[in-house]
Amino acid sequence: MVLKVFRYRPERGPEPYFDEYEVPYRGEMVILDALNYVKDELDGSLSYRWSCRMGVCGSCGMMVNYKPRLTCSTFLREFYPEPVVVEPLEGFPVVRDLVVDMTGFMEKLQAVKPWIIRRHESPVESGEYLQTPEEVERYKQFSMCINCMLCYAACPVFGRDPDFLGPAVLALAHRYNLDSRDEGWPERHQAIAVDWGLWDCTFIGECSVVCPKDVDPAAAIQREKVARTTDAMLSMMLPFGGQP
Ligand code: FES
Repeated sequence: MVLKVFRYRPERGPEPYFDEYEVPYRGEMVILDALNYVKDELDGSLSYRWSCRMGVCGSCGMMVNYKPRLTCSTFLREFYPEPVVVEPLEGFPVVRDLVVDMTGFMEKLQAVKPWIIRRHESPVESGEYLQTPEEVERYKQFSMCINCMLCYAACPVFGRDPDFLGPAVLALAHRYNLDSRDEGWPERHQAIAVDWGLWDCTFIGECSVVCPKDVDPAAAIQREKVARTTDAMLSMMLPFGGQP
């Protein structure tokens, strides 16, 4: 099969270009296998990210025939015998070849404080903060995100405004707001109630279509909108405000 691969090598010049490679076809091969074949056998200069090879680490996301996909979970047989176009994730600055700059994403991730925030920490001797299976179930789906950023590459709002906090980050904020051990939603709300945050999402839903882990960030964002609206109304009517 023919692989048409996006190349950008800043030391060679400012313009990206495509290289074509012929790779052997086997039904069980994934796009990442084909890229590894290119790297090992044809052209060692090709740069791309991967690690686990099993859909867990989230580092191998690329545009495959113009759609954001995990290349370790996308089989060549889906496209055989047509050529396959492989490009870096849409909407991110390209560092080199298929490698994108994740700095903006990492900064947004940190901004929503994706960890458990407590007003008063219990001493270690008092043991874990226990949860019922029902309490875990409330946020479990939204905790399955592997930060692969496919949802960003699919999101037209992010495509238009690279400052948009984006699907994965907003879904993660919702995940912690739903956690019965957490008390940090007012802090997180400050981070997401910005012009480029929660309310910028127009619910197109492509993020959920491409998510390889069925996190459904579009649903998380809409639920967070409902929770924050309910809270705002309760805080007007009741002295103690609402709950996430
Ligand atoms: Fe880890 Fe693909 S290599 S998700």
